Amino acid sequence: MRLLAIQSLVGVAGCVGVLSAPALWAQTKGDPEIGAGIAARVCVACHAEDGTSPMPNTPRLASQHATYLVKQMKDYRAGRRTSEVMGNYIGGLSEEEIPHVAAYYAAQEAIPGVVTDPSVLKLGRRVYVDGNPGSGIPACSGCHGDEGEGTRRFPRLAGQDVGYTLEQMRLYAAGERTNDRGLMQTVADRMSEAETLAVAQYIASLMVLDAEEE
Ligand code: HEC
Ligand code: HEC
Repeated sequence: MRLLAIQSLVGVAGCVGVLSAPALWAQTKGDPEIGAGIAARVCVACHAEDGTSPMPNTPRLASQHATYLVKQMKDYRAGRRTSEVMGNYIGGLSEEEIPHVAAYYAAQEAIPGVVTDPSVLKLGRRVYVDGNPGSGIPACSGCHGDEGEGTRRFPRLAGQDVGYTLEQMRLYAAGERTNDRGLMQTVADRMSEAETLAVAQYIASLMVLDAEEE
């Protein structure tokens, strides 16, 4: 929302012919106001206007890092990441539209996730914070952050839909999602089913709501 406010100011500056630094930033980084129009046309049916989908197994995009969102969309387009559902929709987006729609969803406020099995949160926390040295699982927090806030290279996980997380871990372990520079495939492959189920619940419980893009 803060980004949208900045965009309105840029609009005013543009009218009087001032090429301000924020205007340049908007051109290269994507304009959330333009993104809002694209999202409303195509994406809201599944990802919702606020980026927090009510549909099961559909990723939450709100407050996800824009750089990560851009990479995923480009990967779907180029076939480096495959999904029957997303594959059908990403083709309708032009290369130029991608940064705008990413900026839009990155600017949406996240809301708390939904934990469906609190009994496994303790194990989930242990896996997330410490990994499992015995089986060579690194701590998730080492890349995704203590609160699941992520960075531009490592996606935000906080509050993510449990079913979506489990599906991605399955795809990584099976070698079917391969756009992760090999990092997640190794991690997922080493995890037991109980550890995977538990960490997905713990991720849903993480509450950081507004991660800053570095
Ligand atoms: C018919 C439902 C549907 C529509 C419409 C749709 N998506 Fe998706 N989207 C999904 C599903 C399901 C996934 C998870 C697919 C997978 O497992 O790779 C997904 C995944 C994504 C991801 C990856 C998220 C992550 O955390 O890695 C991004 C980014 C994304 N969608 C953006 C968009 C944008 C932008 C649009 C509009 C142009 C859009 N989607 C339209 C259902 C949809
Ligand atoms: C060495 C760094 C590293 C560690 C440790 C790591 N990850 Fe990841 N993770 C990544 C990278 C890189 C990606 C994918 C980025 C991309 O597709 O561009 C990713 C992606 C993911 C995704 C997909 C997110 C989405 O929105 O689609 C999930 C889920 C995930 N990691 C869970 C975990 C869990 C659970 C752990 C701990 C058991 C973990 N990661 C440990 C680097 C790491």
